[in-house]
Amino acid sequence: MSIMKTLETRNGELYLGGASVSKLAKKYGTPLYLMDEGEIRANCMRYESAMRKYYGENAIVLYASKAFSCKAVYRTVRDCGLGCDVVSGGELYTALAAGMEPEKIFFHGNNKTEAEIREALTAGVGRIVLDSGFELGTVDRIAAELGVTARVSVRIKPGIDAHTHDFIATGKIDSKFGVALENGEAIAFIGEILKAPHTELCGLHCHIGSQIFDTRPFVRAAEVMMDFIAEIRDTYGYTVRELNVGGGVGIKYLDSHDPLTIEENVKNTAEAVLAAAERCGIPAPRLCMEPGRSIVGDAGLTVYTVGSVKEIKNVRNYASVDGGMTDNPRFALYEAAYEAVLPCRPDAERDTVYTVAGRCCESGDILIRDITLPKLTPGELLCVLSTGAYNYSMASNYNRVPRPPVVFIRNGEDRMVVRRETYADVMAKDLD
Ligand SMILES: Cc1ncc(COP(=O)(O)O)c(C=O)c1O
Repeated sequence: MSIMKTLETRNGELYLGGASVSKLAKKYGTPLYLMDEGEIRANCMRYESAMRKYYGENAIVLYASKAFSCKAVYRTVRDCGLGCDVVSGGELYTALAAGMEPEKIFFHGNNKTEAEIREALTAGVGRIVLDSGFELGTVDRIAAELGVTARVSVRIKPGIDAHTHDFIATGKIDSKFGVALENGEAIAFIGEILKAPHTELCGLHCHIGSQIFDTRPFVRAAEVMMDFIAEIRDTYGYTVRELNVGGGVGIKYLDSHDPLTIEENVKNTAEAVLAAAERCGIPAPRLCMEPGRSIVGDAGLTVYTVGSVKEIKNVRNYASVDGGMTDNPRFALYEAAYEAVLPCRPDAERDTVYTVAGRCCESGDILIRDITLPKLTPGELLCVLSTGAYNYSMASNYNRVPRPPVVFIRNGEDRMVVRRETYADVMAKDLD
């Protein structure tokens, strides 16, 4: 059970964070998202203490809330001293409602609406992370209307190939996010920002991709960004005081995965930034990191009930569960891999290969392709592991399937933080 740190077998049953998974499934029904709040806190503290140890006080950890956004998560990370990033008015609204300090919120997005920019500036967010020249015009105009100065950062494509899935690799020039270094777009854009009367350039940002296991692309990105800060100083005589190196640290979905520890990654990145600052003769910038997956990913699992089991001789065995792409679209999006366990008999011999399918009317509605499990019986529970990130936050009501509840576990105690949707919730916006 090494995939999730706080998952263990006790008396032949699966426990997460000290609570029996099958008991919680009985209490709340399935499908069910279970999140070990203790592990979310531990991951936050791993980032916090590594940042202090390797970089000092001039640093902030921003939880990338797209990984999992709900009031309880914002409260948890805030409690641990983190800020957050948001990419929509909805995430901003939730973060503020949960009590996140506006100045600790960074607002991202490659196509923010005017309304969202207005909401962010009115709330007084810490940074608007500019993604394009088009956006600069809008931000500066709205800041003028509101009588405020927009404190911005700029999303840069550092030209790093992080060897992850194309849909989650973002550091290359061929990406919809940010402005590129190698064609001169970024340095010209900085000049435009410095001329904008209602906008203050506070920082640079990059995010090279997600689910990355290798430390070198992070270190390289940090070096490239520091070189760019030096180039800005040389070109415009302006020293940028903040560097946000994004998120992207991978987690263990399969036994074969060997991710970096949080501490290793913070150490390597922090040392690269400090060394580059010295090499370039610039003051060490305020260092921001934006982890999402590595805060919540391995804290969560999803519990399903197995229904129809179809054994198609010499072809494939399909085991369908009572959820699917509506609560976890990651296989459908980019064939993400997962491990599964039977919570009532976690150590039973695995001798049958199944494709675990969802219940939606879509052939691509698969959770796991070809996993070896014990022979499954309809009605029994099955857990998909490490679903804490990009599952609930990507869930949908396709086929009008209500979304599952989210239950937090802390020191063995459970509390529901998002209730199960009802049919009435799903229909609530339909007009007669
Ligand atoms: C701008 C930005 N920051 C941070 C993250 C978080 O990445 P991860 O969840 O891999 O840590 C993402 C993820 O897509 C992102 O786009």
